[in-house]
Amino acid sequence: MAIMRRVLGGFFILNLVFCCRAAVIAAEPANTVPVPGVLVPARLFSTRGGLGYAQFCAECHRLDGAGAKGIFPPLSRKTAGAMPNGPAAQTETSSQLFTMPSFGVLSDRELSEILGFVRKSWGNDAVPGVKEFRQNFGNREAEASGVKVPRLANLLAQTKGAQLVRGMRLLTETKSMLPENVGSELNCASCHLEAGAVALASPFTGVYASFPGYSPRAGRVITIEDRINGCFIRSLNGKPLAVDSPDMKAIGAYLKWMKGTGSSKGKVVGRGVGKIDRALRPNVQNGQKVYATQCAACHGKVGQGLIAADGRYIYPPLWGDNSFNIGAGMARTYTAAAFTKNNMPIGLQANFPLGQGGLSDQEAVDVAEYFSHQPRPDFPKKANDWPKGGRPGDARY
Ligand code: HEC
Ligand code: HEC
Ligand code: HEC
Repeated sequence: MAIMRRVLGGFFILNLVFCCRAAVIAAEPANTVPVPGVLVPARLFSTRGGLGYAQFCAECHRLDGAGAKGIFPPLSRKTAGAMPNGPAAQTETSSQLFTMPSFGVLSDRELSEILGFVRKSWGNDAVPGVKEFRQNFGNREAEASGVKVPRLANLLAQTKGAQLVRGMRLLTETKSMLPENVGSELNCASCHLEAGAVALASPFTGVYASFPGYSPRAGRVITIEDRINGCFIRSLNGKPLAVDSPDMKAIGAYLKWMKGTGSSKGKVVGRGVGKIDRALRPNVQNGQKVYATQCAACHGKVGQGLIAADGRYIYPPLWGDNSFNIGAGMARTYTAAAFTKNNMPIGLQANFPLGQGGLSDQEAVDVAEYFSHQPRPDFPKKANDWPKGGRPGDARY
């Protein structure tokens, strides 16, 4: 049924594209302000609908609404009402048919704010209303029990709203906002999905309360700023951010706000990236196959990421010079496997919020071993890690 819908959609869109080219161009974005790297509507960060979009839609349709060619349709143009990318998603690297996750957990108010934002920002009046949206894309499933998903839209009503929004943006646009500190082509939110609001994608909900805390890797008690800088120098292969800088304070303020959003009685539900059975032994040959069929469409044939014609990164690299270094948690097989199992590939199921999941534990271990052990930058300070023991078995050094 879904496939039928797509095939029909693909047929109609051809006509639509030819007949309406002029109209499409005329409807191209008004109201855009330059942000280093991306062109986004001004109201993206100043309205509830914009922040809702940034949280729940941008991972696939991107902050600028341009989508990803052959994978996720642009919302910044009038293509709605048809499924332009259904059949096109079957590229040479991928037999996947990408789909929308279910947004049954968003309230009517939230959905209407988001759809209103899309319509207004990009002049796309073909975007459906709430009722039609729910009919088209399903309205199944309740939110997984115990996980209260924080809403970025609520940032605006906080006393230090502007600082909190900046903190959130520093996590999602890290590379373009802090080029001096980021040595890779990743953002914090490349892994801490939706600015840290996704369970088992190492969410930030509540972690603030766990710091200062003992870190076996450092062999001492570390602060939240130490932990953040740990990800700057390893996961982003970059340089630490000055602890007293306004940007570090904004990130800290945002994490502190998150403390009150998703935790229940001091316990962070869905903390970390989940667990995977370490008795499963990786099969790299199978990992390479899983990569080609399940990952390459978005992360590139050779792990380089998906790069737009103008050089901007649409989807992040998984290995090579622009990826995380060997000191990152993601460079470890079983951390990468748990992350992959719980969060990737996206857009293939109804699961909230990213339609993620579907690999078996074994496939996740296989593909994780394959991509995590590809060439990537060294971590010069590796000799200082785990000074008092406790080195995990899958560490790279
Ligand atoms: C996990 C990826 C993903 C996320 C997240 C996502 N979408 Fe989509 N969206 C898709 C895909 C794939 C399609 C293509 C439609 C299909 O084949 O079902 C699509 C299609 C659409 C369309 C129809 C466009 C057209 O031209 O046919 C609209 C409108 C839309 N999405 C709005 C949203 C909104 C609003 C959100 C956030 C609440 C959102 N999407 C979040 C993947 C996603
Ligand atoms: C390449 C992926 C990746 C990137 C990019 C990344 N991180 Fe992390 N981060 C991780 C992983 C993996 C963990 C450990 C999760 C676990 O312990 O299971 C982690 C842990 C953390 C923690 C501690 C979480 C906890 O539950 O104690 C914080 C805070 C954090 N990261 C902040 C950041 C910030 C801020 C940035 C951007 C400057 C960033 N990270 C970039 C992968 C990443
Ligand atoms: C439909 C597109 C899509 C597919 C398919 C996909 N990913 Fe991702 N992946 C993403 C997006 C989107 C992010 C989050 C980054 C962002 O929003 O900028 C991400 C992030 C990641 C990250 C953390 C960031 C990084 O670059 O290190 C890893 C690791 C990852 N994916 C692994 C995989 C693996 C393994 C597969 C295959 C099993 C896979 N992904 C399939 C879109 C995809």
